[in-house]
Amino acid sequence: METDTDTAVVEHSAWPLRVQHAHNDDVADIVALNNMFAPDGLTLHRSEAFVVSHLQDYQVVRGADGTLIGQVALDEYSPSLVELVSLAVAPDAQGNGLGQRLITAAEKLARERGYPELFAISLAEPLFLRMGFQESTILRYPEKIARYRAISRSELSIGRKFCFAKVLTSRPTAS
Ligand SMILES: CC(C)(COP(=O)(O)OP(=O)(O)OC[C@H]1O[C@@H](n2cnc3c(N)ncnc32)[C@H](O)[C@@H]1OP(=O)(O)O)[C@@H](O)C(=O)NCCC(=O)NCCS
Repeated sequence: METDTDTAVVEHSAWPLRVQHAHNDDVADIVALNNMFAPDGLTLHRSEAFVVSHLQDYQVVRGADGTLIGQVALDEYSPSLVELVSLAVAPDAQGNGLGQRLITAAEKLARERGYPELFAISLAEPLFLRMGFQESTILRYPEKIARYRAISRSELSIGRKFCFAKVLTSRPTAS
């Protein structure tokens, strides 16, 4: 159920955008936006079944016409470990701060759910460092290695990718 506290207004150059919890109607669009970047290894391929089973962990941004233009999700490993996944902004909407807003929204949800730490695997190093994440190593997350060893070699042979982590017990950064 959506409430006022579920949303955060995103000031865009032309219109206010809201980061909102995803709905059932968003599933196909989430899969399409996420998988658009999978061939380049920027996102992990996600199935419709994955998105449906994690729908409560997805947050989205829709454009003025209702088109889904941004998304982010949390993927839990344990009550003390969660990963920021499926961060994606539609090509036409990139460079306007939506990525930062989505990371902030994921961080807020992770705090509300009581996770002490949030980590991410990404190529977007400047973006995560700007958002207060610190470089880490995937070796700190054997749960991630175990889960993805079987399904994605590219996710773990992360010579190109960086691992970031943010401790959430401190005060949140201003958004
Ligand atoms: C990463 C992504 C979500 C950022 O969205 P966005 O709305 O453009 O983000 P913002 O406008 O808030 O910030 C843009 C910054 O991210 C940086 N960035 C984005 N992708 C990057 C990448 N692959 N490598 C390095 N930096 C990247 C941009 O250079 C820009 O930095 P700048 O302002 O110093 O120029 C978007 O580029 C995207 O969807 N990329 C494809 C999927 C992807 O890489 N997802 C990340 C998986 S964790």
